[in-house]
Amino acid sequence: MSNYHIKHLEEYFQVYRKSVNNPENYWEEIAEEHFLWRKRWDKVLSWDFEKPEIKWFEGAKLNITENCIDRHLTTKGEKTAIIFEPNNPEEEAQHISYNELHKRVCQFANVLKSEGIEKGDRVCIYLPMIPDLAIALLACARIGAIHSVVFAGFSSMALATRINDSDCKMVITSDGSYRGEKTMDLKGIVDEALKTCPGVKTVLVAKRIHSEIEMTDGRDKWLQPLLDKAYQSCYMEIVDAEDPLFILYTSGSTGKPKGMVHTAAGYMVYTAFTFKNIFQYKENDIFWCTADIGWITGHSYIIYGPLANGATTVMFEGIPSYPDFGRFWEIVEKHKVNQFYTAPTVIRALAKQNLNFVEKYDLSSLKILGSVGEPINEEAWHWYNDNIGKSKSPIVDTWWQTETGGILISPIPFSTPTKPTYATLPLPGIQPVLLDDAGTEITGIQVNGNLCIKFPWPSIARTIWGDHQRFRDIYFSTFKDKYFTGDGAFRDEVGYYRITGRVDDVIIVSGHNLGTAPIEDAINEHPAVAESAIVGFPHEIKGNALYGFVILKEFGETRIHDNLRKEINQIITEHIGPIAKLDKIQFTSGLPKTRSGKIMRRILRNIACKDTTDMGDTSTLLNPEVVQEIMDNAL
Ligand code: WT7
Repeated sequence: MSNYHIKHLEEYFQVYRKSVNNPENYWEEIAEEHFLWRKRWDKVLSWDFEKPEIKWFEGAKLNITENCIDRHLTTKGEKTAIIFEPNNPEEEAQHISYNELHKRVCQFANVLKSEGIEKGDRVCIYLPMIPDLAIALLACARIGAIHSVVFAGFSSMALATRINDSDCKMVITSDGSYRGEKTMDLKGIVDEALKTCPGVKTVLVAKRIHSEIEMTDGRDKWLQPLLDKAYQSCYMEIVDAEDPLFILYTSGSTGKPKGMVHTAAGYMVYTAFTFKNIFQYKENDIFWCTADIGWITGHSYIIYGPLANGATTVMFEGIPSYPDFGRFWEIVEKHKVNQFYTAPTVIRALAKQNLNFVEKYDLSSLKILGSVGEPINEEAWHWYNDNIGKSKSPIVDTWWQTETGGILISPIPFSTPTKPTYATLPLPGIQPVLLDDAGTEITGIQVNGNLCIKFPWPSIARTIWGDHQRFRDIYFSTFKDKYFTGDGAFRDEVGYYRITGRVDDVIIVSGHNLGTAPIEDAINEHPAVAESAIVGFPHEIKGNALYGFVILKEFGETRIHDNLRKEINQIITEHIGPIAKLDKIQFTSGLPKTRSGKIMRRILRNIACKDTTDMGDTSTLLNPEVVQEIMDNAL
């Protein structure tokens, strides 16, 4: 029996039991056998969910890039680490070997150092899905700098907020990006953002689309000439187990994004362990996760998890619809992809297209299919299973969060029998519980509750950058001594978990986590708007779409409403990015409120979802009459 690699269901149950009975011992054995350490830990785990304070492998010293790159060089230096598939299928794919990756990461790390970046400094990375992005992350990790990747679809204001929140000294970007037929002016967005970011001293610019851009003297530098001059080897900074590896922002229930902090050792151990088991990676397999590295999925399962296992990982620059809706399947055939990991929103979009787009390609290399980001509905699950997996490849419905660093609940393929819409069983080391709103544990089967985790796992986030109190308030204060996920879940008759969705003010749109508050804050900036409330409603492809209820300062004539709708979406695009645009905007004279002034979102949600049969008791509202008005005018 191996702690690290579980191959059948019996073994899962044995390993799971061991991991719960003696977690320290369980993780210590894994850490010892499968990773390189420069100094051994003094203590495997110390934790206190009250403070909260969580430390794994305290006292240990390591460098994650030694584990992800250097240690593979003697046995598989020439093996491909990263396959880069460009946006344009006519452009040649790149196969970057471990040797080549080592060289390029070292050169990049030397450039960072010569530009004054030191251990602990924050570096903001705002790049498209090109090899420089992967290399930039690893270069930061090599010298102990903390990367903060911002998805290159966020607006200049969202970028500026994130840069300033963590005091980044440097921004790494490109002259632009390709997105299907379009290009995007990333450098222009950075320039706009930096007008309000006095702390940024240097901008490194990768050349990708060869557009004419402005370079600010003394601040902006082309990346390639610096790389060309840099040494091809670089001393690695040996960091402490609990030194921060990166910050990644996620949206929450107030306007300010939360910079989740992940630390070196625990994150490395857990992402490597989950990658190995959930994708049953075997030597020479080709693994493809379609996420962007701007999200946690890309951090954990394009970069760190696969590379720590010496895997070959595909990085795709483009979009599923370019040049046509067969692109994903073309790439699977071209690179003989064995494990394919994507999101339900993508599956639903592709399932709407003609099956010819799938049938044209040979998908026989596929062994395992994955899904992440939101609950996968029954219909999408079956389409994925029947047409892509040909009923032979198990689907792993993986539940996790930016905050959890790695996958927590998921089938282990060929071990756990899958069940559509169920993320199934907790991985070893993960102890989920369901609680009622009063905080009492709901035991037994066929029950619903608030999903919490009662024991730490190695890759749990350690804090919110610069605001530990907020970290405590959001995740550890709703239920005493538990990590609260913000999700609801159902446990079935065999103990399988099904995630039923968010129980807070977060809405998952196309697999992206959007807090209502930042969007409402943006809308309220419009001079004509007095107040607003956002809720989600079901959408065929996106899973959820956003519905805004907006009170205008002066109600005005309806013919100006369409213009206002455009302007409101324009403001949202400027403040956050196009992903947060509203599908429906209803103008109203009031919003249903409790006597203490809290908006009753439940009522708005019912109206947006056209589910008004049971509106509950509205008589206690401050303004019950407004409910009928909103119902009458619903879109
Ligand atoms: C939220 C976290 C973790 C990577 C992507 C999203 C929802 C995620 C599933 C799943 C049902 C899921 C949850 C979670 N979610 N995976 N397999 N089934 N819901 O990361 O942006 O931090 O969002 O996504 O609601 O809390 P994120």
